[in-house]
Amino acid sequence: MSTVSASLSRPLLDVRAVSKHYDGRAVLDRVRFEIGRGEIVSLVGPSGCGKSTLLRAIAGLDRDFDGEIRLDGVPQQGPSARLGVIFQEPRLLPWLSVADNVAFAAGPRRGGDPRVAELLNEVGLANVRDALPKQLSGGMAQRVALVRGLFSSPDLLLLDEPFSAVDAMTRMRLQDLLLALTRSHGTAALLVTHDLDEALYLSDRVLLLAPPHGTGAGRVARDIAIDAPRPRDRRDLSLAEMRAELLDGLNGTVWQH
Ligand SMILES: Nc1ncnc2c1ncn2[C@@H]1O[C@H](COP(=O)(O)OP(=O)(O)OP(=O)(O)O)[C@@H](O)[C@H]1O
Ligand SMILES: [Mg+2]
Repeated sequence: MSTVSASLSRPLLDVRAVSKHYDGRAVLDRVRFEIGRGEIVSLVGPSGCGKSTLLRAIAGLDRDFDGEIRLDGVPQQGPSARLGVIFQEPRLLPWLSVADNVAFAAGPRRGGDPRVAELLNEVGLANVRDALPKQLSGGMAQRVALVRGLFSSPDLLLLDEPFSAVDAMTRMRLQDLLLALTRSHGTAALLVTHDLDEALYLSDRVLLLAPPHGTGAGRVARDIAIDAPRPRDRRDLSLAEMRAELLDGLNGTVWQH
């Protein structure tokens, strides 16, 4: 196989039998899945099943696990500019302007970078580039966090319940914005969410992470392809059928605490 075709057929993210223990207790048990270039995948599962733990391991923020995580064939060695991470709260630095926050990966005062202006323009925030985070609404702050995640032109965005702190209307707008941004930047996304409708609206695949009965550790219990055409209609009946399948999967799981 030539180098070019090898890199095209290789998954962007390859999670290989990842297991994790906290204080001797198994939290993740041989989790394995792949994500292709530009693919949007949601991760759902009962509270405590290890979703955030898994995302932190993929982000390179936690290297204390068994198994292997490869990004474009290369074993994960720690945080990487090829990954953008977005959390539930925007986590902006309060003393830096919006523009300086977006460019923070390049250094503390790099908001003058022309890429920042382009990105802020893309999310409708060009007019607040010099504002401080405290002057923003929750939805605006999360838009800043989204473009900060894209600043290093990552191949994959990792998002942990990114829209759960905003109202329902803002949430729908942010979902559409995420779709537009992943498309225009050619970025794949792995999104943790508790909202099945959000998972179905956004994703090419939904992974259900759940502990099998009798164990406490999360495994990939279902990997469901969402083949509804795009752009999607939130009221699409085929999405409702897949929602029922996901709910059945979730109802069959045990809650971990
Ligand atoms: N730093 C830690 N030390 C010990 N145990 C931890 C630590 N972080 C998480 N855990 C435990 O690991 C398990 C998985 O936690 P995790 O935060 O990954 O779950 P989650 O699926 O993201 O849950 P939620 O949906 O509520 O966010 C839980 O039982 C949790 O108590
Ligand atoms: Mg979590």
